[in-house]
Amino acid sequence: MRERSTTADTAEAIACAANLLRLGELVAFPTETVYGLGGDAANDAAVAAIFEAKGRPRFNPLIVHLPGLPEAEPLSVFDQRAREVAARFWPGPLTLVLPRRPGCPVSLLASAGLDTLALRVPAHPIAQVLLRAIGRPVVAPSANRSGRVSPTTAAHVTAELGDRVAMVLDGGACEVGLESTVLDLTDTRPVLLRPGGVPFEALEAALGEIELAPPNDDATPHSPGRLPSHYAPGLPVRLDATSARPGEALLAFGTTAPEGFAEILWLSRAGELREASANLFAMLRQLDRPEFAGIAVMPIPETGLGRAINDRLRRAAAPRR
Ligand code: TXA
Ligand code: MG
Repeated sequence: MRERSTTADTAEAIACAANLLRLGELVAFPTETVYGLGGDAANDAAVAAIFEAKGRPRFNPLIVHLPGLPEAEPLSVFDQRAREVAARFWPGPLTLVLPRRPGCPVSLLASAGLDTLALRVPAHPIAQVLLRAIGRPVVAPSANRSGRVSPTTAAHVTAELGDRVAMVLDGGACEVGLESTVLDLTDTRPVLLRPGGVPFEALEAALGEIELAPPNDDATPHSPGRLPSHYAPGLPVRLDATSARPGEALLAFGTTAPEGFAEILWLSRAGELREASANLFAMLRQLDRPEFAGIAVMPIPETGLGRAINDRLRRAAAPRR
């Protein structure tokens, strides 16, 4: 029997969600970054249903979610460095790509046939309780249709994927608002695959020099999941806007905004990157209305969380296919 309602974050609802996951159903749940579309990582049918529901290309692997390092260690090879980084940043918005262990139960479909696995320990209390309750690895991409803006509230999930999930656990608005940082530790030199909720500077302070993965395109799916056009609203997005064009809405940052826009939403009046990242996806959705000609965004500094904000904005602004 399918249950489609959005449920409050009671212990009972979480236990119900864990049961549904065990049965191979899909459950959306909150993390501190964005909402995830969860499924049993060892269940091929559940994993296939996730790709189907999102309309996600099969070459783009999923992140495996666990409640802690002890639950992650049997799945992948952690060297001393990986263990230290995990101890420092987990639970939190950091995903580690590590070599997959032989006999690892995670579906090969989930990791797109790669010999590596992306692992994440989310900090959100509902995610933590859910992952402990199910007692198995859970794969969870962001709970949006592929290529669209990630959901930061339960209502976003219901609007986009409501008919595809057995249940949506409602944990309110996500605190970070941007996806996790993805760090590849399979080689001697660490590689940043996706900027995200843990700022690059914090990782460099812990690890020394980190390589930046080169920009990706459709022709090179060996470095999956970093397609140029992604995180895209329906309207065109224009970056580094310093003046208005006819009919445009504006995402503003800082104390003053240029005049002449049809509507203005403030990512952060105080110019705080943390506040701006928490607001970014919800505000992109809010302005994505046909009455506007496009969404313009004021310049955002390329430091700390600004690096991840600008990454998402560049993809939102990239040519569509
Ligand atoms: O914050 C997050 O990470 C959220 C929440 C729900 O946890 N999840 C999320 O998942 O953003 P998704 O599927 O939207 O993004 C996963 C990213 C993709 O860029 C994918 O290519 C990359 O992780 N990835 C997954 N497995 C990988 C692997 N083995 N090697 C390299 N990249 C991998
Ligand atoms: Mg995503």
